Amino acid sequence: MKKITVWNRKGGVGKTTICINLAYELYKKGKKVLCLDLDGQANLTSFFEADIKGVSKPDLARILDANSNFLHIPSEDREIGNGIYQSRYSGIHFIQGARESEQINGTPLSLLDDLLEQTAQKYDFCVLDCHPDFSGLSRSAVYTADLVLVPILLDGFSRDNLNLVAEDILRIEEIAGYEIPFAAVANRVMNRKSQRQIYEDITYRHDYPVLQTCIRDYAVVGNALLLKKPISEHRKSSPPALDFQDLTFELLQKMQKKGVA
Ligand SMILES: Nc1ncnc2c1ncn2[C@@H]1O[C@H](COP(=O)(O)OP(=O)(O)OP(=O)(O)O)[C@@H](O)[C@H]1O
Ligand SMILES: [Mg+2]
Repeated sequence: MKKITVWNRKGGVGKTTICINLAYELYKKGKKVLCLDLDGQANLTSFFEADIKGVSKPDLARILDANSNFLHIPSEDREIGNGIYQSRYSGIHFIQGARESEQINGTPLSLLDDLLEQTAQKYDFCVLDCHPDFSGLSRSAVYTADLVLVPILLDGFSRDNLNLVAEDILRIEEIAGYEIPFAAVANRVMNRKSQRQIYEDITYRHDYPVLQTCIRDYAVVGNALLLKKPISEHRKSSPPALDFQDLTFELLQKMQKKGVA
């Protein structure tokens, strides 16, 4: 199972939107995908809410807590498999997020890595949707990643912020003792001169690893989310649907080149 952690310290850059659409595109390519909602806001979970159908399973906070606090929680909650729901797409499974995951203190860096090992044989990919921070849980998600995908907006703040993002990943790499590949992807792109300049700046002047695929800014992306549909299902031939297909293709190619998929 290859793990793609979708992370940025910054909020509102499209992490959850990308997780949902990436998971769907991978599924359309015949891959089995596990989605993990690490964000206390639980936006990914609300996308899949209808598929929970009133069945109560331990959420991610409970599973993580059970794995770091053995004293008070029933041992069955330690097993990741007990928290996995089947979504309406046969090849996409998910684990619910919960507000309490923000309160888990002292998360060991390897917590998610150890946990995901339990289910590694069942999936081709795991897509992890992070909270916009660099908390213990986000660090653990970066640590376990085969690839960290960093959505960015093409504005001055995002450009300046990329430096921090690269430093954060480097810090985890130093502890891990191996390379953790990362790639930025520009989201909400309009054909504006200022955005083109920033894209060139981060790609050629700063030499950050930025994907060639950009996700264009279209209202239809938000509309699809409101209808709880991936964009390719809602408007198959719309420009952002094509962008998500290209993104998935480019990511798979990149991971194959790096020998991780
Ligand atoms: N390509 C796009 N075109 C138009 N709207 C978009 C696009 N990508 C994301 N959005 C909109 O931007 C908003 C933020 O997206 P999203 O919730 O995915 O960001 P996030 O990084 O997960 O936020 P948070 O940090 O709060 O978790 C949403 O309303 C979404 O519909
Ligand atoms: Mg989000």
